[in-house]
This record gives sequence, C-alpha cells and structure tokens, in this order.
Amino acid sequence: DFANALIDRLPKAELHLHIEGTLEPELMLTLAKRNKVQLPYESVEDVAKAYEFDCLQDFLDLYYMGMSVLQTERDFHDLTWAYLLKVKADGLTHVEMFFDPQAHTDRGISFETVLGGIVLALEQANRELGITSKLIMCFLRHLPEEQAFDALECACKHKDHIFAVGLDSSEKGFPPPLFERVFAAARGEGFTPVAHVGEEGTAENVREGLDLLKIERIDHGNQALSDPELTARLARQQTPLTMCPLSNLRLKGIPTLGHSPVKRAMDAGLLVTVNSDDPSYFGGYLNDNYRAIHQALDLSEKDIIKLAKNSFAASFISDSEKQAHI
Ligand code: ADE
Ligand code: ZN
Repeated sequence: DFANALIDRLPKAELHLHIEGTLEPELMLTLAKRNKVQLPYESVEDVAKAYEFDCLQDFLDLYYMGMSVLQTERDFHDLTWAYLLKVKADGLTHVEMFFDPQAHTDRGISFETVLGGIVLALEQANRELGITSKLIMCFLRHLPEEQAFDALECACKHKDHIFAVGLDSSEKGFPPPLFERVFAAARGEGFTPVAHVGEEGTAENVREGLDLLKIERIDHGNQALSDPELTARLARQQTPLTMCPLSNLRLKGIPTLGHSPVKRAMDAGLLVTVNSDDPSYFGGYLNDNYRAIHQALDLSEKDIIKLAKNSFAASFISDSEKQAHI
C-alpha cells in the first residue's frame, strides 16, 4: 500500500547496525565450510530454530559463536557487501556501522584483517551504490578496560577509517563508569563517543553515558523515557537516540511491538531514529523495522517522513552533506 511504497522510496540512514549482526545463516554455513569451523548447526533451519532469545545475553552467546566463522579479510568484505547490497534496495544512502574488533582479536584474528575487509566493502559501496558511511568501533563492556585500551591503540592507527567509538555487549553488571577512562582517552584522540545505554539497563545508565562518557548519541535509550527529568533533558538537548524496534521485541525488552517507545519518544520531542541492530538475528532489516512500527504504532505518513529525516539529522555527516541526502 501507500505507506509501504513511501517507506521503500524515502532516502534513509541507518545509525545502529552491528555488521557482525548481519551474518545470515546461509553465509554462516558457507563460511564455516570454507574455513573449516565447527558449528552446532547443520542447516539454515537449525540456525533459525536456535534464534529464540529470552534476553540480551541469550542472543549475545549465539552472536559471538556465529561470528567465529569470520576469519579472513575476504570474509569481512563479503559480510559487509551482502548487507550493503540488501539495504541499497531499502533506500539506504548512508550508514554509520558498528564493528566489534575485540570479538575477533580475542580469537586470533588481526584488527587489520577485520577493518581491511569492512573498509574495502564500504569503499566499493561508495563507488558502485552511492552509499556513504562512517565506522564506529565498539568496546565490549564484558571484557576488561585494559582490552578496550588495546583496541583504542589499534584504532588510533586508522583514524582515516574509524570515526567514532561505541560501547556494546552485556549492559547489566557493566555500567558506564567502568569505561570512563578509555572514553576520555578516545575523545582525546578525536573519536566521537556513543554508547548502548538503557537497553536492558536503567535510566541511570543513560545519564552516566551522557555525564561520564560524554556520549553524543544514545544507542537504544529506551529506559530514558521512564525518567521524566531525563526525557526533558534529551528533548532540550536534542541528543539523538537510535532505537531498534524488532531487536527490542526479539530480546524481550518489550512484550509486543505496540510497546515500542518510538512514538512516545517522538511525541516527547526527542530526536529518535529507527534502526535494525542485528537484522539477521532479529528478523528484519531497516525497512522491516519501519513497516513493523508503522503498523503496530499506527504511525502517520508524516511520522514516517519525520523518522527518515531524523536519521540524517541524527547522523554525524556535515550539514551540507545532509542536504545532499534529503
Ligand atoms: N551487540 C550486538 N548487538 C547488541 C545489542 N543490541 N546490545 C548490546 N550489544 C550488542
Ligand atoms: Zn546494538
């Protein structure tokens, strides 16, 4: 219908996307064979059956296991290229993409192998698909601070390709204060700070992200809405939030899509965006997320256009570049 056609043709940016979370079961099995990696799955159906999650940690366990098939620069290129081709058809013109280097260096894959493959695909997408991009390197919060500093040291050699630093993985038990020093160092090196906060964690985590890590964008931030004072602050400051409706549903952060906070956040005057997070694991890419909340939250065409415009407003591209996308 009309809304679906509108969603398909609107230019959009995606600002919350883990490249390792785009690994489709088919490519996972192909790479497992190519690289002789053992997986507990025989078929695409086996993988699909395993993707029933009760919480964030449930998903993360399979997410880290799945990415063990990624070994060579070519693997990282193929993974990234497959995502970019898919979202080109969704009207995506800009992506700010997370990657998790520690999940790879921890198992003996070099930082340069990971980054090299991703960058090759992003450059190819710029030339052949007209998609622009920025890379966000995430620190894994379940690993010690010292290993985050090691990742930062690697990133400093590649400032031409890495724009921002983020914080992801298990939020419960690993709050922002643990990463205050490494974020200060990263900001000192010129990286723009963002973090996953208020996904499974509290509004206090969101506040600490802002005040201690000095984040310039909030990934998820759902729980911020439980705190009226924080909500008012986010509206006043226009700090962007990257929300992920299908992810929230599949990780049981919300019981139904009708509970997605996207519309409430818009109504409260927040700069909110819609994103896919880990589309292969959560059953939908960018436009699937737009379609899902359009239906569940009864969004108007005006709301959909607003969300697409917000995706550029909330991005880290310059104002003149933003005009070129809209
Ligand atoms: N890593 C990949 N996806 C994530 C999410 N939704 N939350 C925390 N860490 C992640
Ligand atoms: Zn995420």
